[in-house]
Order: sequence, then C-alpha cells, then structure tokens
Amino acid sequence: MRRVTRRAEPAPAIPVLEARKLRHGFAGTEVLHGVSLQVWPGEVVAVTGPSGSGKSTLLHLLGGLDTPEQGEVWWAGERADTLDTQTRAQRRAGRLGLVFQHHYLLEDLNVLDNVLIPGRLSGQDDRGRAQGLIERVGLGGREGSLPGVLSGGERQRVAVARALSARPAVVLADEPTGSLDRANAELVAQLLVHLAREEQAGVLLVTHDDRIAAFADRSLHLLDGQFTGAGDEALFPAADRR
Ligand SMILES: Nc1ncnc2c1ncn2[C@@H]1O[C@H](COP(=O)(O)OP(=O)(O)OP(=O)(O)O)[C@@H](O)[C@H]1O
Ligand SMILES: [Mg+2]
Repeated sequence: MRRVTRRAEPAPAIPVLEARKLRHGFAGTEVLHGVSLQVWPGEVVAVTGPSGSGKSTLLHLLGGLDTPEQGEVWWAGERADTLDTQTRAQRRAGRLGLVFQHHYLLEDLNVLDNVLIPGRLSGQDDRGRAQGLIERVGLGGREGSLPGVLSGGERQRVAVARALSARPAVVLADEPTGSLDRANAELVAQLLVHLAREEQAGVLLVTHDDRIAAFADRSLHLLDGQFTGAGDEALFPAADRR
C-alpha cells in the first residue's frame, strides 16, 4: 500500500512545497531548464536522474540555500525565493528538514546533540523525539558518540534523524541512503514514509536506487535539466485543487 489516501480526505488547500519553472546554472551554463513540481502533505516524491543532471542543485533551490536565476519556490503557500536571508533562514528552521548529500555533522557535538540542533534552532528541545529517532535509525546506545568515531553510514543515519527532529512540514533528502547497506537503506526509506503518513509531512527524496524510489508515491526523473515523461498530470497530480 504505497498510495497516499489523501484523495479521500478533505483537500489540502496548498502544497507544502512547490517549484515553478526553475531555471538555474553555474558560470553561464544552465543546469535546470524550467523545473516545476509540487509536493503535498503526506506524500513522498522521489527524484531520480543521472549524476550531474541537477538533482542537488534543485534541492538547494527548494531548500532556499541558493536562489534561482528564474522561477519561484513556495513553502506552504509562501513564496520563499524572494524572502530576505534572515526571514528565509527562520522559515527554513521552522518548516524544513534537510539531509545533504554530504551530510554535515558538527564534529564537536555527540550524536544526540547533533540530532537536537534543528529543534534548538526553532525553539524546541524535544529529547524524547530525538531519542526515538536515533533508535529508529538503528543507533540506540550511540547517543554519546562523537561523529568522528562513526562509520559513513552511521553518520548518514544521524543526519536523517537530525532532519526529522523538529517535526518539519517538508523533508528534502539528497541521497539519504547512498552509503547504507540494503537493510539500513530500507529502514531509512520506511522511516521517511512513516513520517509523511503520520505527520503529514511532504518528503522529496533524491536517490539513484530504484528500490528506494519504489517506496515513494511517485517518481520524477531529471534528465538534461528537465523532468522527463512527466506531463502536468504527473508533476501536478492535484492540479485540480490549484
Ligand atoms: N557550485 C557549483 N559551481 C559550479 N558548478 C556546479 C556547482 N554545483 C553544481 N554544479 C554543476 O551543476 C551540474 C549539476 O550538479 P548537481 O550536483 O546538481 O548534480 P546531481 O544530479 O546532484 O549529481 P550527483 O548524482 O552526482 O549528485 C554539474 O555539472 C555540476 O558540476
Ligand atoms: Mg547530487
């Protein structure tokens, strides 16, 4: 049962995340040629595509870490790309959970304190939730470890727990299972799906792994700076609600 039951529920008024015709590049070379998407509450969307196709670039724009040369980014009905830097950082801390491709942990903080960072940034300090997430990613008992003693896959799982700790409305995850064995990759994918269903978060998940993409409600394939094989129906499954 991977389909969301949202169609049977009262229609949400707005997507939790939306991109409208994003164009962006580096040093005069355009990488994204007008990319649009919507993510609805409770929905997991996978983004696949070859290396260099612009997946991380897209996630950085969606997370407000970079601003698009053209197009718009919307967070729960609020335009994000035109917010001033400070307001955008505040909104990001309150609404988004980010898992970076190169998961940045603070090396001087132990596992538990790393997981608690987003909550502290947004005025929460929910140790019970942080502890529960650490256990859910299979790291119960490692709360006091410093990142330096963890394996690559363990660090990645800490980064996933950290992204989910402040109850984000949107999770942007860039290859969150890239350095995990199959069992742990599936554990992380299941955790993301559970979060979407239980907390009505929208999850956008970049992955090279078709088995992980299969956990999503739908997959978008990025090729040559655009989503392929996706007309408006695939990109905007709830376009009738706009
Ligand atoms: N900060 C940057 N400066 C210059 N070029 C960049 C920068 N970031 C990305 N690029 C270029 O943009 C293109 C897309 O990169 P991006 O990291 O988005 O790809 P990707 O789809 O995430 O690839 P991978 O699957 O390998 O992670 C690449 O050609 C890359 O070299
Ligand atoms: Mg990437």
